[in-house]
This record gives sequence, C-alpha cells and structure tokens, in this order.
Amino acid sequence: MAVDAKARAAKAAGRPVIAFGVGEPDFPTPDYIVAAAQEACAQVRMQKYTPAAGLPELREAVARWIGARFGVDVDEATEIVPTLGSKEAIFSFAQIALGEKRRVAVPEPGYPVYERGALFAGGKVVTVPLSESNSWLPDLDAFDAWDEIALFWVCYPNNPTGAVAPLSFYEELAARAREHGFLLCSDEAYSELWFDEPPVSALQVADRTNIVVFNTLSKRSSMTGYRSGFVCGEPELIAALRSFRPNTGTAPQEVVQRASVTAWNDEAHVEEMRARYARKRELLAPLLDLASGSSEATFYLWFRVPAGESSEAFATRLLEHGVVVAPGSYFGPSGEGYARLALVPSLEECARAATILGDVL
Ligand SMILES: Cc1ncc(COP(=O)(O)O)c(C=O)c1O
Repeated sequence: MAVDAKARAAKAAGRPVIAFGVGEPDFPTPDYIVAAAQEACAQVRMQKYTPAAGLPELREAVARWIGARFGVDVDEATEIVPTLGSKEAIFSFAQIALGEKRRVAVPEPGYPVYERGALFAGGKVVTVPLSESNSWLPDLDAFDAWDEIALFWVCYPNNPTGAVAPLSFYEELAARAREHGFLLCSDEAYSELWFDEPPVSALQVADRTNIVVFNTLSKRSSMTGYRSGFVCGEPELIAALRSFRPNTGTAPQEVVQRASVTAWNDEAHVEEMRARYARKRELLAPLLDLASGSSEATFYLWFRVPAGESSEAFATRLLEHGVVVAPGSYFGPSGEGYARLALVPSLEECARAATILGDVL
C-alpha cells in the first residue's frame, strides 16, 4: 500500500508511471466466469445468508481440482471451507488456532498478514528469516522454538521472492509439526502461477496431520475483486472454522460461489494466463540481477539492487524514471538489498519498462 501511494502521488503530479509495485493481476476475469456470476445473479432473487460450509457444488469443485492438480483425495464434506479470498482466512486463523501456545512463526521477508493476524489475536510472533543462501526456505535446523509455537506459516511459491519449495521440505516440516504439536499453515495463493514445473502443495505429504492449506482464485483466475478461496485441513479444524466463521460474516456470496465453481472447473484460462505472464517475464528477467533460487514461480521477479544502494533508495530512483517496484526491505529486514517487481502491467508497458531499465540499471 505504501508503494501504491507513491505511485499514485507520482501520477497525480502528472508523471507517467508503470506500476510493478502491487501484486494485483490486471488481466480481466475470463468472460465465462463473469457470465456464470451474471447467470447466478439473475437466479438469486431472494438471496439469503450463505451458510459457512458453502455450497456443496463449490466444495466438490475444489476437491476435484485438488485431486486433479495434486493427486490428493480430500473429502469435500469435511475437509474444505470456502473463504472470501484467502486474506481474511489467513488473518483470522490465529483466533481459532492459538491455544495454550501463543507463538506464531512467520517468514521474513514475507506477506505481512500472518504476523498481523497473530498480533490481533493476542499472540506473539517469532520471525523466521529467509535468505538467498538457503534458497529462500527457512533454515529448519536453525529454528529452536518448535515447542513454543502453535502455528508455522510458509508461503510457496513465495511472495515476495518467487521461490518454490520441494516436497521434501514440506515432509520435513510436517514431521516436526506432528512431533511438536503445531499446525503447518501453507499459504499457496500463487500455486498456479508457474513457468517450468508445477509447484507441489503441502497437501501432498504422506501424512496430512496438522497441515492446513489456504488457496484462492485471486491470482489463479484473476478474480481478486470476487473474493473467493478455500481452506483445506483436517475435519476437526474445518468444523472449528465452520463454527467460527458465522461470527465474522465471512461466507462468500452465493453468486461468487457459483462463479467460483466455473473457475475451479476450468484450466484453459489458467494456462493462457501463465503464458501471458511468461511473455512479460521474458522481457524483463534478463535485465535484472535475479537472486539465486528466486523468481521461479508467482508473478514476482526478486532481484538484487545495485551494490551500495539501499532497497528504498533504489526504488525511489526508479520511480523518478517512471518505474515503480517494491523495495525488498518493505517485506522485512532480510529483504534489504533486493527489490520485487510484479509482472502485472500490460505487455506494452513491460516493453517500455524494459527500455527504461536498460538505460537506468
Ligand atoms: C502471499 C499471499 N497470500 C495471500 C494473499 C491474499 O490474496 P486473496 O485474499 O486475494 O486471496 C496474497 C495477496 O496478495 C498474497 O500475496
């Protein structure tokens, strides 16, 4: 939001900007998904409160998608709850999941909502640094608060670094979750934005005890404004979410749920979207000093800023040339020395930015 404010201020001052700062897709939602929402609108004359459990059709579509994409059988009746995108579910999760243990492990640099959710729930935060030397994965041997934490958050493909995690990483963390009795919370918002190999899910571990996965249509189907996602976890946990969520009024609207069934049932639009991000990536990645182990998936490029310049000074200098990127330090101190570029402007804007970056860098 801070980055967005700077971009808006520059625009208001009459300076043209190409905004690579905020991670919001600018592809339109595919027509047939919009049509499904319109059709649902026409049918829903007497819209009632939607139950927290969500439409069975939606849970079935999600379970089918998980089966097809990750080869995992989940029970739509007991293991899935639909959410308003994934942010609200991530934010409020600590409110139901913190017991006697009040600590929450969060990655840094990282998406800030894990930490804010823990703090608003009265929890305490333990930050887990991510670094280039460990391919942007937490160093599990260096972490020593296993017995104190209730939740351990991970996000792969990762925002902000674009790193991916191997299944062995999830297996190791899942084993520790069982041994020490914490929940492994896996934010997989970017699982469908990849370039070479489809990333794995934490759902693929051999024993899914203590695993909770959050996913969303926001990036996969360019549906940020619809607000549609899901949590997948063990039946007891999903039952707890179904009891909790009516308090916060966070069951997705029926119209949105019906459009979401159409979205989860279709892969063609996702393939098309990936191809479009890949074209933008080809224009810009060669110009940047990408961090090793980074930028393999998501629509983010995570790169080193020139030596001797802080992340923020670099971003400010680029803004003077009309290109907005997010300073790595905005995602936590371990992000200093890096910047994040979100491949969300149009292909034409990316081409223009490539010329500017070629001159400036
Ligand atoms: C890492 C990560 N997780 C979750 C989200 C939440 O997305 P939504 O609430 O639109 O599903 C975002 C949004 O940018 C994100 O970057």
